[in-house]
Amino acid sequence: MASSSHLDVCQKVAIELALQAGQMMLAASGRSRNIDQKESMVDLVTETDKGIEAMLFSEIKKKFPEHKTIGEESHHGKAEWTDEPTWIIDPVDGTMNFVHTFPFACVSIGLTIKKEPVLGVVFSPFLDKLYVGRKGRGSTCNGKPISVRACSGLSQALLVTELGSGREEDRIKAICDNFKAVAFKVHGIRAQGSAALNLCSVAHGYADGYYEFGLHCWDMCAGMIILTEAGGVVSDTTGSPLDIMARRILATGNQTVAQQLADSLVSHIELERD
Ligand code: IPD
Repeated sequence: MASSSHLDVCQKVAIELALQAGQMMLAASGRSRNIDQKESMVDLVTETDKGIEAMLFSEIKKKFPEHKTIGEESHHGKAEWTDEPTWIIDPVDGTMNFVHTFPFACVSIGLTIKKEPVLGVVFSPFLDKLYVGRKGRGSTCNGKPISVRACSGLSQALLVTELGSGREEDRIKAICDNFKAVAFKVHGIRAQGSAALNLCSVAHGYADGYYEFGLHCWDMCAGMIILTEAGGVVSDTTGSPLDIMARRILATGNQTVAQQLADSLVSHIELERD
């Protein structure tokens, strides 16, 4: 296990890099060129995603040469995720928002050790929110401690979910079936377009739950430690333990909402693992 002083250094570096990535996003906002499609017509990558990931990877390699990295833009095929300290990074989470200048876009930097998230930093320069979560140390937003909202059950919950970035017919049908099954049991459902910020919204008590099928490990790694350290719970959409390579998540402020939400979902979509 890394010492607490080593994790202090990791945390300081991650925050500095997140702020630097935020400056790069601000500088490029509204000027996105060279927009490419990846897995589908709504799965986009810009030169900013690639530039930020290259900057983050190069700085991390300089500072922590022995650490491993997994990143959205350099991921090809299966992620090599080991017990070694591994930075799991999304340079721009909410790329579609970024392209449209909708402000829910952020950089998401997570660190796992022995396959357990221990540090998460999520920064949105557009919302001016810097979220930090560290195992055993709680979570903060702009330096102030945050915690989940008390919510008595699904009927009182404001949820977040997403259509996601795939458009295969089966997947969209299952997502719509789940939406119909949940929508009339809750106060409301929102789609913000950034998995990392969705997790931070539950951590900050703006939302009571979030579920999604089809996201990736780099979308959830940092946000999940921020949420659990703010008092929330994460699991697979079935309610069983979360597997961050399995492309689905259920994240709530407490176990009651988690159980009721897991019981309400009618379709658990299986996707190719990261
Ligand atoms: C996407 C966003 C979106 C979610 C997708 C993710 P990206 O990440 O988090 O909210 O619905 O599943 O892939 O592609 O913008 O980094």
